[in-house]
Amino acid sequence: MSRQAEYQALRDRHVPKGASHATPAFIKEARGAVMIDVDGRELIDFAGGIGVMNVGHSHPKVVAAIQDQAAKFTHTCFHVAMYEPYVDLAARLNDLSPGDFHKKTMFANSGAEAVENAIKIARHATGRPAVIALDGAFHGRTLLTMTLTSKVKPYKLGFGPFAPEVYRMPNAYCYRCPFGLRYPSCGVACADHLEEFFVGNVAPEQTAAVIAEPVQGEGGFVTPPPEYFAKLQAICSKYGIVLVIDEVQTAMGRTGKLFAIEHWGIAPDVVTTAKSLAGGLPLSAVTGRAELMDGPHVGGLGGTFGGNPVACRAALAVLEVLVEDGLLARAEQLGAELRRRLDVLQRRFELIGDVRGKGPMLAIELVRDREKKTPATDETKKLVKRCYEKGLVLIACGNFGNVIRTLMPLVITDEQLDRGFEILESALQEISQAR
Ligand SMILES: Cc1ncc(COP(=O)(O)O)c(C=O)c1O
Repeated sequence: MSRQAEYQALRDRHVPKGASHATPAFIKEARGAVMIDVDGRELIDFAGGIGVMNVGHSHPKVVAAIQDQAAKFTHTCFHVAMYEPYVDLAARLNDLSPGDFHKKTMFANSGAEAVENAIKIARHATGRPAVIALDGAFHGRTLLTMTLTSKVKPYKLGFGPFAPEVYRMPNAYCYRCPFGLRYPSCGVACADHLEEFFVGNVAPEQTAAVIAEPVQGEGGFVTPPPEYFAKLQAICSKYGIVLVIDEVQTAMGRTGKLFAIEHWGIAPDVVTTAKSLAGGLPLSAVTGRAELMDGPHVGGLGGTFGGNPVACRAALAVLEVLVEDGLLARAEQLGAELRRRLDVLQRRFELIGDVRGKGPMLAIELVRDREKKTPATDETKKLVKRCYEKGLVLIACGNFGNVIRTLMPLVITDEQLDRGFEILESALQEISQAR
């Protein structure tokens, strides 16, 4: 029995099936954009632990920062005795995030926790209960964030009752426009729709926050048109509603910019980050206008592990790698190269209905028929499986599970990219022929 099979049996016995795994891989080592499984097989990583490894697995600067901090101390709890890395990282994120105004940052452990805190802060600041989220949104798995999340299976089924005062409006899904319109003649009606939404769903005077991802991650890399967020922001400002931009998946260079919302040229009131922030250690942040962030009373925000010193040191190293070492520039180049390669695949395979995204955060949506856009869900599952068998780790997303996304470490080499694309192409070829 392989070590992999041995551990699969142990996993099945000891770990609940609800904690899913996209591939049966057990990893013993990972470096850059390559993972090695426990039997010694090399896997090209196009998933980056779901968008966590932007600077690559085991980046030497991140490893060094973790080792150095771990040898000094690993925990005091910021609420008991404070430490420099927490404040240094907060200052860095306040400086680097969009917006020329005074900002403050607090830390938590996961993306979901960051979103929970962002909503607490928005509710406290406005004294209002309601939150508007979008179709296709994913904000996490806690009660509030699961409620904010759109997709029912697997995220919500059987887990209700849900948190109150969450409303959902259509998203800017141009490939499957919920209003049946076409960009640009639509005039980005999906953003203007917010005004109408207030009439039939919830009053603006009752709305604390509108929350949106710049590029919807789990929702299928749905990417709004350039005018979208400015329009949304103008409506929010008109009614004193806090615009929360959830950058848990999109920030830290994933789209070629440090924060994806920079592509849309707005500075949101509050931004949430996590995933790639600390290069694989659990850390999330809420960064926002100082007057909003300072709303909650002393003790109203925080948690035992939030802003752990080892994680903060790792995040400071991640920012150094991205900003000072030029990884953002590499991300932009990678984005252009990925777009070129995916466009070639789309021309070649009927199965690819749409290519979309920003920078190196790109996706292909697979459809059985380009005219009707019938989601090719089974084909997507087969594609992920075949690619894994050939040595490439890919993950799917989208409400129909028919979207393949690129979340590879930004440090991927040209040779690794070539190998990954060879596998993807040959698997697409097999699946297209078998139809
Ligand atoms: C946009 C977004 N928000 C929130 C979350 C939740 O993050 P976590 O799984 O760290 O709780 C995710 C996770 O995929 C995400 O993509």
